[in-house]
Amino acid sequence: MTESETGVSGVEIVLDSVTKHYSAQPDPAVDNVSLTIPAGEIVVLVGPSGCGKTTTLRMINRLIEPSSGTITIGGQDALSVNPDRLRRGIGYSIQQGGLFPHLTVAKNVATVPGLMGWDRKRVAERVDEMLDLVGLDPTSFRNRYPRQLSGGQQQRVGVARALAADPPVLLMDEPFGAVDPITRGLLQDELLRLQAELRKTIVFVTHDFNEAVKLGDRIAVLGKGSSILQYDTPAAILADPADDTVAGFVGAGAALKQLTLTRVEDVTLGDCPTVTESDRVGSLRTALAERDQAWGLIVDEQRRPLRWVTLPQLAQATTLREVGTPVGQVISLRSTLQEALEALLAESTANAVVTGRRGAYAGLITIDTLVSHLSQIRTAHSPTGADAHAGDEAAGPA
Ligand SMILES: Nc1ncnc2c1ncn2[C@@H]1O[C@H](COP(=O)(O)OP(=O)(O)O)[C@@H](O)[C@H]1O
Ligand SMILES: [Mg+2]
Repeated sequence: MTESETGVSGVEIVLDSVTKHYSAQPDPAVDNVSLTIPAGEIVVLVGPSGCGKTTTLRMINRLIEPSSGTITIGGQDALSVNPDRLRRGIGYSIQQGGLFPHLTVAKNVATVPGLMGWDRKRVAERVDEMLDLVGLDPTSFRNRYPRQLSGGQQQRVGVARALAADPPVLLMDEPFGAVDPITRGLLQDELLRLQAELRKTIVFVTHDFNEAVKLGDRIAVLGKGSSILQYDTPAAILADPADDTVAGFVGAGAALKQLTLTRVEDVTLGDCPTVTESDRVGSLRTALAERDQAWGLIVDEQRRPLRWVTLPQLAQATTLREVGTPVGQVISLRSTLQEALEALLAESTANAVVTGRRGAYAGLITIDTLVSHLSQIRTAHSPTGADAHAGDEAAGPA
């Protein structure tokens, strides 16, 4: 099938018996690795520090030259083309975006298109388009320097730069390692949203198994010398780790990690009455009475959540403008159920507001939803009720 039929713009990458020996090191950093990365998928290389992830990744764009073996990208032998030309067709994103500190955001994003000789107007348009794509307003960001950005914003610019020349392949080396957990979650969501549109081939390196499960279409669990301990879908690895080392890496709580496989948008959300501040107090009281519910949500004109309001709070109120308790952390439709659980635990609440497009109210997620989802997974994985797989920490001694 052609690209336009499948929507896939990425190409297949094949590593065949690839080895890297650094001089003066007794053991190879990457030892005879063979791996096929399908076109248009996110493949995550996950493994402990020092196992050879970065070396493996950097051999794909030849920032590091393999000692032996072959690498084929889109059917072409990567080792036979000019390395500079090769790298222009491969986006590369690292921690903190790897931005040039002395160049503006616009100049950073324009690096590869500039090298490729695009004319100025086309480059400028592309820069704005890319900043938009990664959620940064071009007018306010294009002339800033990296030091004038937060870690998350730098990371977004790094992704914009990697995508600027529309390469079929994107290599990402622990790109979200340096940002706080909440920002990291948002950046992961953004990457998935972008990928749903772009369908590049993305090789993503991390040492965080949760990140691997969230992002990967497939995960390669690596041991020393990038040896492939298991290469499969996240669901398959969680359900059936290949050996004790993988099981150890999956870690305690494999059952809970199943929550990482499902997004909030894939479960049935709860609901509650919503009103805007300009509505009458009486209309909310009526809505609550009709549904026999003790609380509702005040939203703004764009339906973005503002405050929870309870019946006792309403009893005193004459207007909805000042009543209620601010909504804490909200959860996006694209969040995983695990992130939803973390948010609920962090806020010590049984309900959290879910928002969709442009932050508009989309429903509620509750602890009960998560618990019943987990029990469904367990039933599906162990029809006899005897789950033999590692990590089912709730199972007592037989
Ligand atoms: N330039 C280098 N020279 C010598 N040894 C290196 C070099 N780069 C990495 N190594 C070694 O190769 C191994 C793999 O490193 P690396 O690919 O960076 O692992 P990871 O990204 O998984 O942490 C490590 O033992 C590291 O010390
Ligand atoms: Mg590394």
